Amino acid sequence: MSVLSHTGATGTDVENAGLRDPADPERIAALDRQFVMGTYARYPVVFVRGEGKKLWDSQGREYLDFLSGIAVVGVGHCHPHVADAIARQARTLVHVSNLFHNPLQAVLAERLCRLTGMEKVFFCNSGAEANECAIKLARKWGRSRRGASCHEIITFTGSFHGRTFGAVSATAQPKYQAAFAPMVPGFHYVPLNDLRALDERITENTCAVLIEPIQGESGIHPATPEFLSAVRALCDEAEVLLICDEVQCGMGRTGAFLASQACGVVPDVVTLAKGIADGFPMGACLARGNAADTLAPGDHGSTFAGQPLACAAALATLDVLEREELMQNAVTVGTYFRERLHDVQREMPDRVREVRGLGLMVGMELAVPIARTVVLQLLERGVVVNAVGDTVLRFLPPLIVSRDDCDTVVDRLRDALRASVSEP
Ligand SMILES: Cc1ncc(COP(=O)(O)O)c(C=O)c1O
Repeated sequence: MSVLSHTGATGTDVENAGLRDPADPERIAALDRQFVMGTYARYPVVFVRGEGKKLWDSQGREYLDFLSGIAVVGVGHCHPHVADAIARQARTLVHVSNLFHNPLQAVLAERLCRLTGMEKVFFCNSGAEANECAIKLARKWGRSRRGASCHEIITFTGSFHGRTFGAVSATAQPKYQAAFAPMVPGFHYVPLNDLRALDERITENTCAVLIEPIQGESGIHPATPEFLSAVRALCDEAEVLLICDEVQCGMGRTGAFLASQACGVVPDVVTLAKGIADGFPMGACLARGNAADTLAPGDHGSTFAGQPLACAAALATLDVLEREELMQNAVTVGTYFRERLHDVQREMPDRVREVRGLGLMVGMELAVPIARTVVLQLLERGVVVNAVGDTVLRFLPPLIVSRDDCDTVVDRLRDALRASVSEP
């Protein structure tokens, strides 16, 4: 039986795709190279099935997934409760225009507000879109307070907010911007955890400060709790919105529903996506206070946003997160995992420089530029993680992982580190 039969691919699908042997990863890679725009440097693996914390490739090999998409499949691959909710809703009503009420959207909005301390939600389809909404909301809010010049937004060096023009302009990393200049004007960047630099940059023209409580794409760099609290105080003093981008660090990954909650900080605006519907595309921009009432009919919108199918997946994901106490698991297993990684650091100081993160959002800074090789070595050993640049390994497992899973990954990581360093 073909491994693709798990995915429901029929003989006809496969013939149409020109794949006589659908399990052949080289043929799939060739087709991909020929017909898919080359925006991703893909690892040489073809995943065809997932269940819980496990993935299987087209050759039938099993992997322990310590990446979960990239912090997407938080309650595990194809969780039966989420899969059933999607299947049921797909047979009931997939889409309804936002011109009409949608009961699942209303119920989900209430539930997200309760979990985050926010008051209103705008639904969208991705993290970048959630940040676009936050940027537009902040500009309109600033204009209503201090006029059109109050449209500037401050973000932090190393941040990542997405690929659309507003979001990439907010992203303070030249490598994502250079080819597409000029950027949207009005964004200023200051170093993370540098309160004085932020204080000096805030002016009458600043409408918002946008921050990831833990930077993910730059290699797991947390804002310190003291810094985040001080940013909150500065924003209050200067009458500036505090927007937390929790697209990667939110949805329970750090042990609290929002990473900002773990620091006792309540933002004015929060953005979510990735883990919100366990892999079904969805994003959300949430706000409280007068920020929540800033956007009016016609200001913003999206055809697919908050459609019944996505809402059913998100509601089911929240059920699992709560019922299976996965935030608590993220704390206990995350603490254990980082301790074990610290052991590896102590054993191999010439290879491992630092372990950082919170809950199940963990980065390992290597002392040598071998991160991609280590990832390939781990794939060969049946473990999925990813590399950020040359020196950081990023671990973002589903929140269902156990201590035993961590032990398995740490044992294989030791081998992979040894094998990678010994290569020429
Ligand atoms: C913190 C953060 N914000 C925004 C985004 C963009 O999300 P998306 O890829 O869903 O547009 C990402 C994606 O990695 C992210 O990590």
